[in-house]
Amino acid sequence: MNKKLNIGLIGFGVVGEGVYQVLLNTPSLQATIKKIAIKHPDKKRQAPSDLFTTDVNELLYDDDIHVIVELIDDADVAYKIVKMALQQKKQVVSANKKMIAYHLPELIALQQEYDVSLLYEAAVCGSIPIIRNLEEYFDTDLLNAISGIVNGSTNFILTQIKEKDLRFEEALTLAQQLGFAESNPALDVEGIDAVNKLSILLKHTFGIDALPTELLHKGITQISSSDAQYASEKGYEIKLVANAFRISEHEVVSYVMPQFIKSRHQLCQVKNEYNGVLLSSTLADEQFLYGKGAGRYPTSSAVLSDISALRYGYRYEYKKSKQEKKYSLSNDFLLSVYVSYADGALIRMTDFECVREKYTGANGHYLIGDIRLADLLNASWIHDTGVSLIELRDAGNGK
Ligand code: HSE
Repeated sequence: MNKKLNIGLIGFGVVGEGVYQVLLNTPSLQATIKKIAIKHPDKKRQAPSDLFTTDVNELLYDDDIHVIVELIDDADVAYKIVKMALQQKKQVVSANKKMIAYHLPELIALQQEYDVSLLYEAAVCGSIPIIRNLEEYFDTDLLNAISGIVNGSTNFILTQIKEKDLRFEEALTLAQQLGFAESNPALDVEGIDAVNKLSILLKHTFGIDALPTELLHKGITQISSSDAQYASEKGYEIKLVANAFRISEHEVVSYVMPQFIKSRHQLCQVKNEYNGVLLSSTLADEQFLYGKGAGRYPTSSAVLSDISALRYGYRYEYKKSKQEKKYSLSNDFLLSVYVSYADGALIRMTDFECVREKYTGANGHYLIGDIRLADLLNASWIHDTGVSLIELRDAGNGK
């Protein structure tokens, strides 16, 4: 690749503008943004107007542009652009977790067919180098589990509610103002962003191709003040955790769910927009990666790292998919859960293998019991308004 890198930037939102500013102020990177494609030409922007175009083809068909950096949030448009960029034999950096989660097998095939690289460290856990870690460091080690806080906005909201006594809506508004939340924040608070990231992690941890729609996700919108009170009485905090762990030689269980976590646990130290990922492997035992998971500059940091990796021709090799041992997803796993509800009629009790505790009080009702993941996946009641579902276990090493 040329000494000087010309970049075509798609999108000039929170992260796009961050990448622009950092590249401008870091001449040692020898990377210049040649053109920026945007949707709304009339918006006022802090960059020379001749850099901007509304025609993405100006970037995709410019032979002088070597790298396309795609930072828009419309996953369908992003998919079309990234596909065309790869077909034009351009290297691509993207932060679009939904687009990657839904198209990864095809994007991998395109990289091979056109002999180019697509890097997306910024798509999972912002500034934490988790994908490169899984790709490179854990090449030969046997990974057993990955669990973590992978969405900065929900963690920010939960922290603000607990520590600053903010209401859910106030905390969400703040997360939006600080540039942590998605344009549609329902993606954050309903656990959809987290499950998109989990789908990508499954590929790099266990070589599993799983669409986000195959994985259970439950967000934080239904967590009530009585759930928070229960947590604090028992010495827990509530965190939204993405999980994937081996339950047998070839089977992996994976889901996103709020979880009660003991206050001494590492994940409890992860506050606000920080993310934290626990890896468990046979040789290394447990490792904990921690860093900012959302926001302009932490995310820009991961984008820059990818741009810089392209200089030496770096590519993901997807080694876990090529190993002899193949893993598949299993939903045959018993989870211990706490379920609170406004009305007992909302819950299908027959879904539970056992109910160990049931409480009815003036402030709300809850039960504690065991339920199979397969039954939870089929239980539409877990998504009803007034139903809160929180896993009860120590986070970390799978079971
Ligand atoms: N909305 C995302 C989050 C941005 O809060 O984690 C980073 O992916």
